[in-house]
Amino acid sequence: MSLVQLIYVSDLVAQDESQIAAILSSSVRHNLENGITGMLLYSQGNFLQVLEGERDKVEETYARICQDKRHHNTVMLTEEEVSERQFADWTMGYRQLSPEIAAQLTEYAPFFQFGFDAAAIRAKPGVALAMLELFSQGMF
Ligand SMILES: Cc1cc2nc3c(=O)[nH]c(=O)nc-3n(C[C@H](O)[C@H](O)[C@H](O)COP(=O)(O)O)c2cc1C
Repeated sequence: MSLVQLIYVSDLVAQDESQIAAILSSSVRHNLENGITGMLLYSQGNFLQVLEGERDKVEETYARICQDKRHHNTVMLTEEEVSERQFADWTMGYRQLSPEIAAQLTEYAPFFQFGFDAAAIRAKPGVALAMLELFSQGMF
């Protein structure tokens, strides 16, 4: 059994935020079935998501997500084997990040305040996971 953690970014189509509730309910339903846990962040029209679980389930889920017409420009940032889950409590946690949160977190703001900046995130290894972990803790 191989446990992996996959992180990607994407753009919500037409910034239609009314889609997000439906995305989340179908995510939770499928993830429960597939043993997937993770966290979905949304900021200014972009998503940053981590999926973790058995490799075949994560890859099958990611392939399905990539076909979803509600978002586009999907870019995988990392896929790594891990020894344990970091988001075990979440079938899919969700946070929407606001300018007020960016103002409190100057260290991370450049990576998300105008939407997730895929190039900047790629250039700083570990920052995507650090943001996902921070926001999963609910302090901000
Ligand atoms: C940003 C985003 C995140 C998603 N996350 C998940 C997820 O974690 N797990 C999942 O099974 N589907 C996820 N989906 C939904 C899938 O793309 C797909 O629509 C769904 O699995 C099919 O659901 P259905 O059976 O309700 O048609 C996500 C979609 C989007 C746009």
